[in-house]
Amino acid sequence: MSGGTGIDGYRRYLAERDGTPDLSRRRLERREEFFASIEARPVRSRRTVDRDAFLRSLRRRDPEAGLDRELAWLLATAKLNQAERFGVGLGEIYGRNSGADRPPEAVYLELEEHYHSRLLAYVLDMFDLPFQVVPPPFVMRQFVKLSVFLPERPGMPFVGAAEMAGCVMFDELRRAGVVIFGDEPEVAARIASLYNEILTDEIGHVGYCAARCSPIGRRVMRLLYPRFGRLVARQTPEVLLVVDRYDLHKRLDRPFDIAALTRDLPMPTFVAAVP
Ligand SMILES: [Fe+2]
Ligand SMILES: [Fe+2]
Repeated sequence: MSGGTGIDGYRRYLAERDGTPDLSRRRLERREEFFASIEARPVRSRRTVDRDAFLRSLRRRDPEAGLDRELAWLLATAKLNQAERFGVGLGEIYGRNSGADRPPEAVYLELEEHYHSRLLAYVLDMFDLPFQVVPPPFVMRQFVKLSVFLPERPGMPFVGAAEMAGCVMFDELRRAGVVIFGDEPEVAARIASLYNEILTDEIGHVGYCAARCSPIGRRVMRLLYPRFGRLVARQTPEVLLVVDRYDLHKRLDRPFDIAALTRDLPMPTFVAAVP
């Protein structure tokens, strides 16, 4: 983990990690290199997943009875980023992420979110499952709209707390995925590598939000984070079929632990400010 030089340092880190951004084609030069390496070495799971059950459940708010852990994990993977995708999509439509008055990192953050959907799509692809866009549940939609349309000063602690909760969710799912599919080492390794990319970005987003907040804003981030974490888990019930609710709540009630999140990430992370 590196840090300490705030937003300027984060800008340099983004330029290094992502390369040149191309907003019109929604591309980040360096991230394309990563995908080229993934595509050059495709990985397929030997499992046969019930595709119809997956597609049915994707559109359901509550999981079907008797859903097994593997399918629950795949559904959680398919659903977890939908709220952030929805938020970034709204921000994009309303032109809130680019423009002369926006800081240069906003474009990176927008494009990174597109890659998160793509990274998760590659996870599903190993199981021959499609990535589909589904709107997040009603409560989440209102919540996301609030964070998109609030002015920056009051809005940033909201977004920051949601990013913190996101880090924990991605970390939990990453660890669970590696265990659940541990009997297929190549699949487990690919899950880790795809999830690591997302987690690395999200840690950066947390630090960035914290750096844009006042000390009071950072306090609000810390206060909201365990609540948002619970909300996300409740709104994506498949998560709680994979991750133990009690342990998750215990983790959310402890201080946000960047060292624990970054411990086994193979790539450098950047935290512009600690929330
Ligand atoms: Fe994301
Ligand atoms: Fe994010």
